[in-house]
Amino acid sequence: VQISDNWPGYSLDLFTYPQHYYGDLEYVLIPHGIIVDRTERLAKDIVQDIGDNDIVVLCVLKGGYKFISMKVEFVRLRSYHNDQSMQDMQIMGGDDLSKLTGKDIVGTGRTMKVLLDNIEKYRPKMIKVASLLVKRTSQPDGYRPDYYGFEIPDLFVVGYALDYNEHFRDLNHICVINDHGKAKYRV
Ligand code: IMP
Ligand code: MG
Repeated sequence: VQISDNWPGYSLDLFTYPQHYYGDLEYVLIPHGIIVDRTERLAKDIVQDIGDNDIVVLCVLKGGYKFISMKVEFVRLRSYHNDQSMQDMQIMGGDDLSKLTGKDIVGTGRTMKVLLDNIEKYRPKMIKVASLLVKRTSQPDGYRPDYYGFEIPDLFVVGYALDYNEHFRDLNHICVINDHGKAKYRV
């Protein structure tokens, strides 16, 4: 699903969301129901393609946890400080790997490349990457997941397990944070 650069989103007044985020958000980019519906179709596509093969799902924490329902391994990567992508990458956990990697969002694609380089060492038969979101970033380094739910503009988004400094993961919709929200939760 392509979300164009001029998509204005939905007014926050049209939906419900946690009261503790009132005043911190700009608009709803993707409502919860559409995320769920699209994810269902991705799952169907994946099952159709991979079929009977034993699938090991590697959920990339923390953002990937909403996105998958079946999970056996977890790995966590961290690179963002406030809304900026940082040079150093922290990888935590995950030692027995893998065929299908479930991820929240591919921004620059840098995180995914680091993870894939690490997974290759375990010589899996096949690796497929499914990401809920792909960003149209200004620094395209060629990485594209095998499956993705939505292609979005180059915006910092939160909700549906995506965080801004660990906040907003409990928001159901994928939203764009406003300046007030950024300042409030800046570290
Ligand atoms: P990348 O290395 O730029 O592809 O970013 C990958 C990771 O950064 C994702 O797995 C997210 O955890 C985080 N990230 C990137 N863009 C966003 C965003 O818009 N909102 C929240 N987290 C993001
Ligand atoms: Mg994060």
